[in-house]
Amino acid sequence: MEPVRKLSRSIAGKVALVTGAASGMGRATAHIFAGEGAKVAVVDLKQERVDAVVAEIKAEGGEAHGWALDVADADGIIRVVKEVEARFGGLDILVNNAGLATFHGIGEEGYEKTWALALDVMLTAHVRFVRAALPSLKKSGEGRIVNVASTEGFGATPGNSPYVAAKHGVIGLTRALAVELGREGVTVNCICPGPIRTGITQEIPDEHKEIFAKRRVPLRRYGFPEEVAHVTLSVVLPASSYLNGIAIPVDGGMLVKNA
Ligand code: NAI
Repeated sequence: MEPVRKLSRSIAGKVALVTGAASGMGRATAHIFAGEGAKVAVVDLKQERVDAVVAEIKAEGGEAHGWALDVADADGIIRVVKEVEARFGGLDILVNNAGLATFHGIGEEGYEKTWALALDVMLTAHVRFVRAALPSLKKSGEGRIVNVASTEGFGATPGNSPYVAAKHGVIGLTRALAVELGREGVTVNCICPGPIRTGITQEIPDEHKEIFAKRRVPLRRYGFPEEVAHVTLSVVLPASSYLNGIAIPVDGGMLVKNA
């Protein structure tokens, strides 16, 4: 019999860039990647929040550096990717995670501004990061792109069309890039979280969270950011080399529950 192939489950030494890494799932991802020995570029809006996460990671013995960036800034993305590559000597893993809540009824005043914001931050930014990082991701030989969409990428909540459109777009983009970049040895996948306890959902009172989760989620609770970040880690492992173009719900079973 052929020997069973030994595929690596280590990302030690890999360079990973995580956007929206100052909070929630991005922060958990940055921590978990650094804990596995990756060099982590922590990217988020505000310098002091970025610095705080970098300090946490360093205190645990991890390697990280922070960049303050609005991911809606096209030139800023090119600059930050160049600086990350120069500092860490390449880029192997890109996690497009930054996002925000953008509820806005279609008939309400100011809709177009919210639409533009949702698309800029949660879809166009992903494309720009991929374009900026592509030469390094190809060179890596084990390049990995993970886009964070949402269960709102499969279905929809009323009054949430800018977000829903952006997240459906992220799934489409993931599929399109997976078939385009597969030949370059770069895999492109997408994580679709359900209701998770993060910055975005912190305004929702606990009793509302509980009512929603008991009604809609088979596990009957909101998820924790770490529960999503570990799935992201699985996707970027060298051993996950044949996983490509997939949208993975991490939602406690919410999407498959009918009644
Ligand atoms: P969070 O609010 O804890 O973290 C999001 C981070 O993105 C924040 O630190 C924020 O400063 C950053 N960010 C927002 N706009 C940015 C910009 N223009 N430039 C740079 N950074 C920016 O929220 P969470 O939940 O961890 O969000 C991560 C991703 O997960 C988002 O894409 C969100 O849409 C998605 N998601 C969240 C769900 C949830 O229930 N929490 C469910 C499904 C998807």
